[in-house]
Amino acid sequence: MSKIILTGDRPTGRLHLGHYVGSLKRRVELQNSGEYEKILIMIADAQALTDNFDNPEKIRQNIIEVALDYLSVGLDPTRSTLFIQSQIPELTELTFYYMNLVSVSRLYRNPTVKSEIQLRNFEASIPAGFLCYPISQAADITAFKATAVPVGEDQLPMLEQTKEIVRKFNAVYREVLVEPEILLPENNACLRLPGTDGKAKMSKSLGNCIYLADSPEDIRKKVMGMFTDPLHLQVSDPGHLEGNTVFTYLDAFCKQRHFAEYLPEYSCLDELKEHYQKGGLGDVKIKKFLNNILQEELAPIQAKRKEYEKDISGVYNILKEGSEQARSIAAKTLDEVKAAMKINYFEDEALIRMHSRKYEN
Ligand code: TRP
Repeated sequence: MSKIILTGDRPTGRLHLGHYVGSLKRRVELQNSGEYEKILIMIADAQALTDNFDNPEKIRQNIIEVALDYLSVGLDPTRSTLFIQSQIPELTELTFYYMNLVSVSRLYRNPTVKSEIQLRNFEASIPAGFLCYPISQAADITAFKATAVPVGEDQLPMLEQTKEIVRKFNAVYREVLVEPEILLPENNACLRLPGTDGKAKMSKSLGNCIYLADSPEDIRKKVMGMFTDPLHLQVSDPGHLEGNTVFTYLDAFCKQRHFAEYLPEYSCLDELKEHYQKGGLGDVKIKKFLNNILQEELAPIQAKRKEYEKDISGVYNILKEGSEQARSIAAKTLDEVKAAMKINYFEDEALIRMHSRKYEN
């Protein structure tokens, strides 16, 4: 079976470091590994509308931002297909047929949906489209027969639900759909990068994100203002690592060679942590170290973004061509799905013959 990747993001804002370590970086590695026959990266505007239906302008403005973020991290349109979800009507059609395979109570039990309902105060009145978005996500994944879906940990329940739909479809109709595997980040610190304020997650509404498109000066300011250890008041005080955002980021970004380059007094991260815990190592020093590392990591991304920003219509063209390619793949799967469900009447010569015979004489 060919190895195919599908993944995507909702275009509700620019992408940040959480997206980067949680998924983007991995996608680029997978793309460059040459192991995959197809890599499809989707801007999930239709899904974003399920909780932003009254603000389509926000989605419309952010498609180009996400596309620029994709291209700037190294997703290469000659090797990966970048496309926009809403431009593939086959996905909506698949969603409608899959809706028959999922119960409403199962949708309410989806942990991601559950917490999002609370977050958005949807308890009293949940848009049906929102409740059903995991079904649409199953359509996204199965339309391309994706075997692997690199996403963050919060997407686990979506993948579970997709697998259930695949099994049910294949059992009820015919073996057409492929069960996908989730690819989570290997590094624990990357699973869920906290916000700069130490809160569990980077989120635009909390204002605790470092964006891929932030200027070097913005990044420096954000790093210098990062949450560390509130008990570490003086340099000589022993410091704590748990919940210390700077150290979590170091776990995610620091490589051995960074010490020789930016902090030669230490040989490795363990030594730095040990000194911090003992006392005598100040926050400013570790923040400056982290800032150097992040600036180095983000500089080529920023440079690439600047290049693509010079040709925005070219970027829209990449998305248009990608959407056309993606559509032809999804259309093939939809044909197979309809054939398996026996709703391909006009191609079903046996059906036409049978009915002709029924009404002979
Ligand atoms: N739910 C994903 C997110 O919120 C976006 C998404 C939509 C997606 N369809 C997908 C991710 C299919 C992976 C596969 O970021």
